[in-house]
Amino acid sequence: MAAAAVEVKDPEDNRMRNSKYVKGVQCLVETGITQIPDAYIQPPHLRLSVTKFESSNEIPVIDLAGLEDDRRSGVLEEIRNASERWGFFQVINHGVPVPVIERMMDVSRRFHELPTEEKMEHHSVDPSRSYRFQTSFNAEKQKVLEWRDSLVQRCYPPPEDDKWLKNPSDYRDAAMDYSRELRKLLKLLLAAMSEGLNLSSDTLEKCLGEEFTQMFLVNYYPPCPNPDLVLGVNSHSDPGGLTVLFQDEIGGLQVFNEGNWFEVKPLANAFVINVADQLEVLSNGIYKSVDHRAIRRIGDVARISVATFCNPTREAKIGPIAELTKMNPPLYKEYLFSDFLHHFFSMYYDGKACLDNFKLPTKP
Ligand code: OGA
Ligand code: NI
Repeated sequence: MAAAAVEVKDPEDNRMRNSKYVKGVQCLVETGITQIPDAYIQPPHLRLSVTKFESSNEIPVIDLAGLEDDRRSGVLEEIRNASERWGFFQVINHGVPVPVIERMMDVSRRFHELPTEEKMEHHSVDPSRSYRFQTSFNAEKQKVLEWRDSLVQRCYPPPEDDKWLKNPSDYRDAAMDYSRELRKLLKLLLAAMSEGLNLSSDTLEKCLGEEFTQMFLVNYYPPCPNPDLVLGVNSHSDPGGLTVLFQDEIGGLQVFNEGNWFEVKPLANAFVINVADQLEVLSNGIYKSVDHRAIRRIGDVARISVATFCNPTREAKIGPIAELTKMNPPLYKEYLFSDFLHHFFSMYYDGKACLDNFKLPTKP
């Protein structure tokens, strides 16, 4: 039995305690640990042994091929219902070629398996960097560390050639192809989700600013000696517009819905789509940005997921779309996306929902 999680109150204590873990979880695992350090131990109420979860067949799987034929209106309705009820769904026949996905997963794995010194050359917690290696969300500031390492890469607006990671040598080509294909899928989804709100198909994309930005996060979850004491990703909602995630076959992504956690079952070659905070605001609460987390299962193979985030430009003014506030009062304020990000980065460490700051008081 591992020791109880240590209470850390002072941010400076946090930094001192966590500075030895900034090299990442994979580095820690390579030292051959048999017990996890206290910094990774979740408080008792968040441990897997006490939080129930269900493996769910209910999170909708939607066949996008139907958008091209007479099934279109039915598919639009499925997307709307899923976004309203779950904030999550999976898509198949999404148009992204399988070899493009496979190559992306392959370079992702090879990056995370590089020697620690090589990855640490790219280590940074500065979100303005084109690409960087990090562990947890921000290992120095977080109270309880997450069992994951990540590679973060901005991919739209297209970075110059030297603003992509150079090792693995085939990374840039793979990541560029992947990002280009994902942009097409994002546009298709934004159009479908606009129509689902009875708005013209370009509405949501236009609300995200001149051209929405795009970045990805390659999450790497190494095997863990005490999986029931850790989380791969702490519970959070995504701050951007829409997230498209590819996960390998290991699984561990869970979605919160009406008091329970539901697992998003890995489905070969499918993407997991989730509504993020800005689409909840724009849709005036019709689409839900819900809490999700990732657990680390028992097993000796690392799990990989690639999360692509479609975000408004920093200057975009976000607020409920006017057509949607005619019948129902606006639930959120208007704000600049840069203000939202500012709040998000100062709150994530405490696991607080950023969106709450932008809600309007509802009349009793
Ligand atoms: C994320 C995320 C879940 C996963 O990166 O925002 O929620 O399954 N990832 O990796
Ligand atoms: Ni997320």
